[in-house]
Amino acid sequence: MEKISIAIDGPASSGKSTVAKILASDYGFIYVDTGAMYRTITYLAIKHQVAFSNEEKLAELAIDYPITFKQSAHGQLVFVDDEDITMAIRQPDVTAAVSEVSAHGKVREKLVEAQRKLATAGGIVMDGRDIGTTVLPQAEVKIFLIASVEERAQRRYKENQAKGIEMDFEMIKEAIAKRDYLDSHREVSPLIQAEDALLVDTTGMSIVQVVGKIKAIVTSKG
Ligand code: C5P
Repeated sequence: MEKISIAIDGPASSGKSTVAKILASDYGFIYVDTGAMYRTITYLAIKHQVAFSNEEKLAELAIDYPITFKQSAHGQLVFVDDEDITMAIRQPDVTAAVSEVSAHGKVREKLVEAQRKLATAGGIVMDGRDIGTTVLPQAEVKIFLIASVEERAQRRYKENQAKGIEMDFEMIKEAIAKRDYLDSHREVSPLIQAEDALLVDTTGMSIVQVVGKIKAIVTSKG
């Protein structure tokens, strides 16, 4: 497989990371979870008591605490310094605040720079909200992955249960809808389908079917 870049964008819990990880593993590509990077800044802001409105200080956190991804037998782990924050960045307090943090232009500037560096050698699957529009506009394959909010909330509910995170279904649905609204309506790099991205609606589809569909798109581009 030629070392292309695959950009996968879409709303919260649309299956981006699950599908992106499988594609990266099957193609022998690097997987970059850009949501984890915004979550990390949010986690650090809570830890160091930086206000979510303090753009300058939040952007400094992105410089002071470089994020590293490490592969393990249990999947990709997220570290800042020597601290494993893989689980911490998925907790409800981080999820509830991440859209406010990610709306700041200076925070995005720092993280986009880091994301582009990770992608320089190609052979990459990157998922997020602005990969096809802003981070990797030259990506060979761009997918915009969507699903109904009901189905996305179901998926997140099951995922949370598997991870031992207790959260009411209706609350999850509301939180997803709110995050989508904030991510789609911010001024800088809002969540939007790139003009040349292909829309894949995963409602009612299995992961295997979604992966198959994207692989067919990749093959047709090559
Ligand atoms: O993908 P995930 O749900 O983990 O992303 C968490 C949040 O990070 C999103 O709701 C969004 O606010 C922000 N994000 C972003 N741009 C990206 C990836 C994530 O603004 N490329």
